Amino acid sequence: MNSLDKAHSISDLRQMARRRLPASVFDFIDGGAEDERTLADNRHALTRRRISSRVLVDVSSPNLETPIFGNTWAAPFVVCPMGSCALGWPEADIAIARAAASQGIVYTLSTMSTTSIERMANAVQGRLWFQLYILKNSALNYDLIARAQAAGYEALVVTVDLPVGGKRERDLRNEISIPLKFNTKHLWEGITHPRWALRMISSKFPEFENVRGFMGEEGSGLTIAARVGESLNASYQWSDLVQLRDKWKGKLLVKGVQHPEDALRMLEMGIDGLWISNHGGRQLDGAIASADALPAIYEATQGRVTLIMDSGVRRGVDALIAKALGANAVGIGRAPLLGACVGGQKGAHRAIEILIDELRRSMQLSGVADFSSANIKLY
Ligand code: FNR
Repeated sequence: MNSLDKAHSISDLRQMARRRLPASVFDFIDGGAEDERTLADNRHALTRRRISSRVLVDVSSPNLETPIFGNTWAAPFVVCPMGSCALGWPEADIAIARAAASQGIVYTLSTMSTTSIERMANAVQGRLWFQLYILKNSALNYDLIARAQAAGYEALVVTVDLPVGGKRERDLRNEISIPLKFNTKHLWEGITHPRWALRMISSKFPEFENVRGFMGEEGSGLTIAARVGESLNASYQWSDLVQLRDKWKGKLLVKGVQHPEDALRMLEMGIDGLWISNHGGRQLDGAIASADALPAIYEATQGRVTLIMDSGVRRGVDALIAKALGANAVGIGRAPLLGACVGGQKGAHRAIEILIDELRRSMQLSGVADFSSANIKLY
């Protein structure tokens, strides 16, 4: 039995990742902003809800297939965009994307990924979306979009909940940066985590490949959030989003939506998908939990736009609860990344497999034969 077989839940994978990674890297992935209230609330908003099951339904072969934008996903999960993943495992982006593709779900590549748009498109056969951070350099924004379009990415996800970088205090204390700037604490962490250190030394050092040369001074030693934050355009507004709508030919989603009035306005301007998210509790500490924001957005939009919800999904049943609250599908961030930190592609595969297996079982136990048409009552 390899160690991944001993992981029965995302929480098991998290514990394994915690043991194997230097604390600064684990904290960067696991942590949230300031007091981590929103981080905790995201979980609580899902775990406090209960399903009122139906019985005597034929659930012998539950259907997890989910139609999104005219395509069929094998299950209602999409991998969230995540930057700097190679700090945890070399080429973690590619490992996660391949694991997603092999299980029939979409992978979203971040602007701040450690794998370029083109390298990812060449490495993975599956369905890919591209996430755009709105950078101060608007020519660079349009260049990134053109590259994603040319490389065949199916949808553009524009993240709007990050006009400035969040205050992640674990990262400030740990002084974690990209490129890694070693201090004595980091050297000690490397010595005490030799397998991680060897993997890092024998692979390409992590860098922001999509925006290489545009991210300010490399040796600045700023935390990742601060370095990304410095390059973001905090004056971006509705009129700019209209222009982006005109530029991108494929499906356009906006990520970081929390308020129903914003949701309605986006629907009216022709946005195809709303991604309800608070960035996994990594930005505004005090932001509403995604599962709490979702019902009002569903109420306002009435099924006229695709809704994806992320932040806090750690169990298959969370997807069913999100569905009951109005989501078409859920985004998964830390879950597959923690898996990748434990065992590369196999680890990411195990994380997605656990979530799919849990969702299938939850559907059967709650009398849901078909995910996309499920009508679930929650308490
Ligand atoms: C993120 N997230 C993120 N979001 C985004 O739009 N662009 C990005 O580059 C990143 N980078 C990033 C790095 C890491 C390490 C994490 C954990 C998260 C947020 C991400 O897309 C998603 O919203 C959350 O991760 C969802 O919450 P869970 O599933 O991690 O609880």
